[in-house]
Amino acid sequence: MNNVDELIQQAATAFEAAVDGAQLEQAKARFLGKAGSLTEQLKGLGKLPPEERRAAGAEINRAKDAIEALLEARREALRAARLLAQLSAEALDVTLPGRGTGRGGLHPVSLTLERVEALFRSIGFVVADGPEIETDWHNFTALNTPDNHPARSMHDTFYLEGRDDVLLRTHTSPVQIRAMLAHVERHAQAAVMPDVRVIAPGRVYRVDSDATHSPMFHQVEGLWVGEGVSFADLKGVVADFLRKFFESDDLQVRFRPSFFPFTEPSAEIDVAFMSGALEGKWLEIAGCGMVHPNVLRFGGIDPERYTGFAFGMGLDRLAMLRYGINDLRLFFESELRFLTQFR
Ligand code: FA5
Ligand code: MG
Repeated sequence: MNNVDELIQQAATAFEAAVDGAQLEQAKARFLGKAGSLTEQLKGLGKLPPEERRAAGAEINRAKDAIEALLEARREALRAARLLAQLSAEALDVTLPGRGTGRGGLHPVSLTLERVEALFRSIGFVVADGPEIETDWHNFTALNTPDNHPARSMHDTFYLEGRDDVLLRTHTSPVQIRAMLAHVERHAQAAVMPDVRVIAPGRVYRVDSDATHSPMFHQVEGLWVGEGVSFADLKGVVADFLRKFFESDDLQVRFRPSFFPFTEPSAEIDVAFMSGALEGKWLEIAGCGMVHPNVLRFGGIDPERYTGFAFGMGLDRLAMLRYGINDLRLFFESELRFLTQFR
């Protein structure tokens, strides 16, 4: 019955031509469906003479098995092709370099602060702090700078609307007062008051803006009060700190006479750039001096018995010198190409 073989051949061709599941199902209907060729043939069996019926039936069954097998094979082939297409669409190029995980790092001013703290801790200083929104009294009055004192205008700052008793602190010096008052209270019962030895790093604010001045910057205050503390101690401690900080014995440092209402005598400290475009140029890093007797009194300490020195260093300036950076505004621009150099 070559009619059957022909039918199988036709089915094979039709299935092969189907390029997706939907087309294949349509092709299947043409052969195996209710009105399909094979079903038609089955219906025709009844018209055959009984002696031919059996053989014809067997032939039709053979065709049905063969077509179903072809159908299943084609289904499988289409499934495999679909999987292959999906795999190649989602392929990973394992030869690409990895993206890596970004490594964070500390800001150069934070690195500088950590270094300053470690060096002062190593000679017995403790770290203190005070509020950035400070009272007018701590920022000026208790630092021997009464209302209308001309030194107030050098520290023009940011005030708070509707409040004239608080301001954004212009320096870390008000922490001197807070630290002395706390120290005196803590040791009120002691026969001998131990030395005050604190550093106080933090943010300060001024109406200032150029390559070496920023409206918000960082200072670290230092204060040492005790019996017999002298200007020689101030020079020794600061010079020793700077040599260690910059890891250089031939660092150029100068003390320049200056004025602050809260110290007497007073000086400013300059350090020369050791590298970069500004090599050899002086940069002021700190103000310092012997704590004024009035300031000791405001801190609750007897100036007849105790003396002390204080300094206020610009942390951003220390960072500029250490890293050879000529414009301090770079620290505040959050530019990654700049910052990642310090990781
Ligand atoms: C003071 O602020 C005094 N309180 C320092 C002091 C403390 C003197 C204790 C005596 C005893 P001065 O205004 O000079 O002083 O500032 C101190 C340092 O802060 C400067 O030497 C400089 O390094 C840094 N500095 C000042 N203004 C800015 C600014 N706008 N931006 C960045 N750094 C600054
Ligand atoms: Mg100054």
